[in-house]
Amino acid sequence: MSEIAVIGAGYVGLTTAACMSHLGHEVACVDVVPEKIERLRRGDVPILEAGLDELVQEGLRSALLHFSLDAAGAVAQAEFVYLCVPTPQGLDGSADLSYIEDAAREIGPFLQPEAIVINKSTVPVGSTRVVEQALGRGDVPVVSNPEFLREGSAVHDFMHPDRVVIGADDQGAAIRVAGLYLGMAAPLQVTDPASAETIKYASNAFLATKISFVNAIAAVCEAVGADVNDVVLGMGYDKRIGNAFLRPGPGWGGSCFPKDSRALVRIAEDAGYDFDLLKGVITVNDEQFERVTDKIVTRAGGSVEGRRVAAWGLTFKARTDDTRDSPSIEILRRLRARGALIRAYDPAVPRSTEDDRLADIEVVDDPYAACADAEVLAVLTEWDELKWLDFDKVAETMAAPRVVDARNLLDRNTLVRRGFEYEGIGRT
Ligand code: NAD
Ligand code: UGA
Repeated sequence: MSEIAVIGAGYVGLTTAACMSHLGHEVACVDVVPEKIERLRRGDVPILEAGLDELVQEGLRSALLHFSLDAAGAVAQAEFVYLCVPTPQGLDGSADLSYIEDAAREIGPFLQPEAIVINKSTVPVGSTRVVEQALGRGDVPVVSNPEFLREGSAVHDFMHPDRVVIGADDQGAAIRVAGLYLGMAAPLQVTDPASAETIKYASNAFLATKISFVNAIAAVCEAVGADVNDVVLGMGYDKRIGNAFLRPGPGWGGSCFPKDSRALVRIAEDAGYDFDLLKGVITVNDEQFERVTDKIVTRAGGSVEGRRVAAWGLTFKARTDDTRDSPSIEILRRLRARGALIRAYDPAVPRSTEDDRLADIEVVDDPYAACADAEVLAVLTEWDELKWLDFDKVAETMAAPRVVDARNLLDRNTLVRRGFEYEGIGRT
């Protein structure tokens, strides 16, 4: 089995490192944050990701998985070097490649001549060349291998991908990288780097488009008196449409869709194409934040100035503790701007959380406590456990039993029977 170095121990890097060690490879996983590396060396995984703790502990026990701050030392042994560093949104909407360039510049001099650098970060077309230049190593091929895992099911998605995409000019390098995924029952697509990079952006943009589409249909449903849940069910029976990624909600967010959709608009623009469709998708998403904010304000009686609003859910979706670009927080900030006093609960976000965006929002560790004296409860993240709470107790705690369920999570009939005013998304 091969020696692998993984640069970046975040959602993608740590998952890649842990899964590759589980598959029997010797892996060194590197990060620049000393506290993160110290915790990982103790088997303490800093993110909530199903199955990841077990794999990290297994890797440490078998001594196949190592954590390090020393990128040069890690790559000096490696046959394959994965780049899994951030590519955040730059000031002009394009992807900021500085992390990836810095990482490549740092490791370049220490790579073995037979090494292959595999880029898993999401990068604009042409970035494989940028990495090659930053490495300064004409003898080391760079291969694009975009990652399609979702947070919350990262380990499952890595081990059971829908496809593996390898973009390479060097066929020999592509075959060697393909060998890393031989055990996985997934279609393998070998293509050129520009196509691989475009596949990643196109996939995320298409998924975001589906969600904006269903949120727009939900608005139509409200206007015409239809029920979006039934509409989606009926659409989904058509195999050409399918029912995945058609759950209406507060808008899409997270660390990738927002930055990647904007980056694709920019990539297209720079290449002379005005991607109006995708701009519309982004606009619909922004409008969805405002629509949900308006629903909450209306339910609270037309104004939230000085009034208590309870919120359930701060993460950008359930089964993750990631709050980056969370629609929930965006909506709470809009409510704050209208004067609301907010108490929020999220099963994955502790009261002690240090997050500037939550500075003027009270975070509590109990869902009932969040509801105390609230005029309205906003359900913003689809945590399953919220469905099974004692809604009589919730009603007693609130100033008035009113719910805006931005995820269509709760059982409407149960709530109405208990005296709640209930409002979902796309349902009259
Ligand atoms: P992340 O922020 O969770 O982790 C990135 C890690 O890289 C951090 O721990 C950071 O400290 C580290 N890092 C930064 N510079 C470094 C350097 N020079 N050397 C070593 N480590 C360094 O990011 P992520 O969510 O894992 O995303 C990484 C890339 O993968 C991005 O391009 C993202 O778009 C893409 N991606 C993310 C997901 C996801 O679900 N999060 C899925 C697919 C693709
Ligand atoms: C997404 C993609 O699903 C992954 O394939 C991709 O690898 C990843 O981005 C990435 O490039 O980082 P992720 O951001 O983890 O994964 O989360 P998703 O499950 O896609 O959800 C994104 C947002 O859309 C969340 O806010 C979620 O609540 C929302 N969503 C999703 C809906 O509102 N409705 C749906 O039907 C699905």
